Amino acid sequence: MKTIAFFNNKGGVGKTTFTYHLGYSLETLGKRVLFVDLDPQCNLTAHIFDDNEINQSWGPGGNSIHKAVEPIISGAGDFKTIPPHKVSNRNIWVFMGDLLLTDFDGELSSAWTQILAGQERGFRVTSAIYRLINEFATKNNIDYVLIDLGPNLGSLNRAILLGCDNFIVPMIPDLFSLRGSQNLGRVFADWIKNYELAKARIGSVPFNIQNGKPIFSGYVLQQFNVYRNRKTKAYAHWGSQIPHYVQQYVVNPLVAIDPNLALNLQNFQVAEFKNYHTLLPMAQESLKPIFELTSQDGVVGGHFQYVDDCKAEFRQIGKKIITLI
Ligand SMILES: Nc1ncnc2c1ncn2[C@@H]1O[C@H](COP(=O)(O)OP(=O)(O)OP(=O)(O)O)[C@@H](O)[C@H]1O
Ligand SMILES: [Mg+2]
Repeated sequence: MKTIAFFNNKGGVGKTTFTYHLGYSLETLGKRVLFVDLDPQCNLTAHIFDDNEINQSWGPGGNSIHKAVEPIISGAGDFKTIPPHKVSNRNIWVFMGDLLLTDFDGELSSAWTQILAGQERGFRVTSAIYRLINEFATKNNIDYVLIDLGPNLGSLNRAILLGCDNFIVPMIPDLFSLRGSQNLGRVFADWIKNYELAKARIGSVPFNIQNGKPIFSGYVLQQFNVYRNRKTKAYAHWGSQIPHYVQQYVVNPLVAIDPNLALNLQNFQVAEFKNYHTLLPMAQESLKPIFELTSQDGVVGGHFQYVDDCKAEFRQIGKKIITLI
């Protein structure tokens, strides 16, 4: 089982859309996939389930991820084992997102202070979602856990990053996206170092805790803002700078602490996800990935070619991820 987080502290770069399509493609290739939606915006959840199902998961007796950590927030104890939702007829499970996850973020902020002070409670709270995910994934032979995160360097994202095996950074080729990534490696390296020291200080605890060694596994070039030739030039300008930025601002700070913290990829790019324009809102409305859209979902004429392109593209991406991770 491998846990992969999709992260960029820059918003709107295509994290959720890529995570979603990759998950469905891995399942099509025969893998058992668990999605975990840890962004309070709940976009991943909304791409998989209809409003009724989402409202049920938020209501009394529901099974959103927030329900599992509620006892920790209220001080009543450890996390509650709650099964994720299964997507019917698919080997896909989902821990659904919840707006209330922001409350847990606050709790995790004080837990981090406790971790640094070597207090067991800090480790218990910080490892709660990690343990919840692992418990389910191990019992149910999950092959890939894919975690979608919100665009920030907050406490929830820190707790998850420290517990994932690999992380992938979706990026778009523009100035803001490059600037946005400048903090990433430095902040992660800081988290990793502090966590390592705190772990050494506390010794052993009576529950599983995060390993604290997330491996940077490449960036995804998301070029959905490219429409015409003129823009393609501008895209090429920023796109060609990405490997340099990634090397300097993501890879270097990480490998300085441990050379194993970055996969050895050519130019650091792990995948490319092109712009599918109107097929994407269609996919969201149909609660399907682009590569499974049919005429019943509204695909007409030349769009069929794009659906096929997307299928081929993600088949390749899925296979590559299986080989690498
Ligand atoms: N390949 C694509 N083709 C067309 N549109 C896309 C593509 N990828 C993403 N989009 C669109 O771009 C917008 C941002 O994508 P998405 O929500 O996946 O980004 P995000 O990084 O998860 O955002 P956030 O930081 O808010 O979580 C969405 O409206 C989405 O529909
Ligand atoms: Mg998102």
